[in-house]
Amino acid sequence: MTSRKLVIAIDGPAASGKSTTARLVAARLGYLHVDTGAMYRAFALKVLRRNIAIGDRQGIESLVAGTHVALALQGDVLRVFLDGEDVSDAIRSPEVSRAVSPVSGYPEVRRAMVREQRLLGAAGGIVMDGRDIGTVVYPDADVKFFMVAGIEARARRRQEELTGTGTAIPLEAVVQDIRERDARDAGRAESPLRRADDAIDIDTSALTIEEQVEIVLKAVSGILQERRKR
Ligand code: DC
Repeated sequence: MTSRKLVIAIDGPAASGKSTTARLVAARLGYLHVDTGAMYRAFALKVLRRNIAIGDRQGIESLVAGTHVALALQGDVLRVFLDGEDVSDAIRSPEVSRAVSPVSGYPEVRRAMVREQRLLGAAGGIVMDGRDIGTVVYPDADVKFFMVAGIEARARRRQEELTGTGTAIPLEAVVQDIRERDARDAGRAESPLRRADDAIDIDTSALTIEEQVEIVLKAVSGILQERRKR
């Protein structure tokens, strides 16, 4: 009997290692990886480009209706498209990082993105990472993970990521940025960052990427074995 492909949810705060882990797990399983943070970032970039004020709820909510965000794998790199334009590098800028948390807090923005995310996973075979995947997007996901890491480890990772895109930022500034974003993501009214009660916790502070991937794959393979027995 062939098992149905799973829906795997990975949530956690900024730079906790979720996206890299999700991408590699998806590659190993032959599943689709959806980085939902990248989707919100792409939309926040559009808001910035249109010069819409971050506090202009009506302006932002009406913009989302005519926006198309798509993800596509090129080789082993996930590319992000905003209305057909590849914005994979632009969405990692500090400006977008600052704007994305408030922009993603507007209810209509979340509704549009969550609708898209549910369509992407409708057939299973998906690894989706974000803040509310196990709680809101897929409360019935087959398996959920909640990844955390110490602030130092997270800041270092984000700094390396930024260096990779040609932006040099002092570590203290990255720490400050992540702290502010944590507070906003966890404190907002709409879909705040919250651990699902049935999530498996992974603290990635002292783990290598490969170790993180192995922990997730082991749990997934346990579930697949259970299913085959039924
Ligand atoms: O994972 P990331 O740092 O790229 O996410 C960028 C922002 O998007 C983050 O500050 C909060 C928001 N986000 C969200 O609200 N819900 C998600 N499912 C994913 C990200």
